[in-house]
Amino acid sequence: MSASLFLGPLVINYALIGQPAFEKFGNFFPPQTAQICEASDGILFGAVTKGGILELRQHFDFFTNLRPVRPFETLLHKSSLQSQKIQGLDILFVRELVSGIYFGPSGRERDENGSYGYHTMKYYDWEISRIARVALQKAKERRGLLTVAHKENALPQIPWSHLVQDEAKHFPDVVVEPMLVDNLAMQLVREPKRFDVILAGNLFGDILSDIGGALVGSIGLLPSASINDRGFGLYEAIHGTAPDIAGKGIANPLGTMGAVALMLQQWGETHAATHLIQAIETVLALGYRTADLAPQGEEILVNTENLTELIIQQLSELALANKE
Ligand code: IPM
Ligand code: MG
Repeated sequence: MSASLFLGPLVINYALIGQPAFEKFGNFFPPQTAQICEASDGILFGAVTKGGILELRQHFDFFTNLRPVRPFETLLHKSSLQSQKIQGLDILFVRELVSGIYFGPSGRERDENGSYGYHTMKYYDWEISRIARVALQKAKERRGLLTVAHKENALPQIPWSHLVQDEAKHFPDVVVEPMLVDNLAMQLVREPKRFDVILAGNLFGDILSDIGGALVGSIGLLPSASINDRGFGLYEAIHGTAPDIAGKGIANPLGTMGAVALMLQQWGETHAATHLIQAIETVLALGYRTADLAPQGEEILVNTENLTELIIQQLSELALANKE
């Protein structure tokens, strides 16, 4: 299938992952899917019902997960306190994505005290150092503050602060601020604008970035990019699955569209990315909202498909205007 987003023809191939892949191939992340992904310039991921995503992230060593958190200006109500709190907010979460407790030794066993389960948080120092370098570089290109989420008062064997500070010697312009993750969660809610780049391991990054969703009004708005050391990437909304709303047509498609914009940026297609974001902003400014954004009064409630169509229409209009 071909589509056009100002960047010339784009070939889109589809591949199964998760439950439908399991039903067809007996595998949540089948080799057929891996092959299609391998032959591509980027992977756009739709939230799946079960399985596959962790295997996909690990298969391509997508260790850098970038989760930018910025509110849409048009969604702010100038009089509300929450809006004042987040106006101008610009946080970048850098989450380590292929290690930590998600991938450490795990199992279910039984001993004299009964059955038990375990997942192990294990990090090689080099895994922390390599994600630290990415986060430091991002902070250097932004406002120069890197907050490091850690829990060294209880988990002292994984010395995030120390390892990041070691790498920071090569980034003299960046201020590194280690912060206990529980306190960080509180500060994020209290005073989000004080943050610039937040670096976290896999589990803490998962949890903290959902607070980002709450801050901007809906987790359905936030995109993410997962990149490996070749610059190859996987692009997805930060929300996982929401089986309770599946098939109802009420999901917010903007997280996934934002992920497409991140993909275009990663490809160097900044022009196309800007157009896409502009189209989204225009449609929001016209008052169209999916249900998660709790439209009231003036705003117009639309379903997933309507909102998508409106944005596509807006893109076509932008394309025409650009030709003139
Ligand atoms: C996310 C999601 C996933 C994660 C789930 C679906 C496994 O919550 O991308 O944040 O925990 O990484
Ligand atoms: Mg999550």
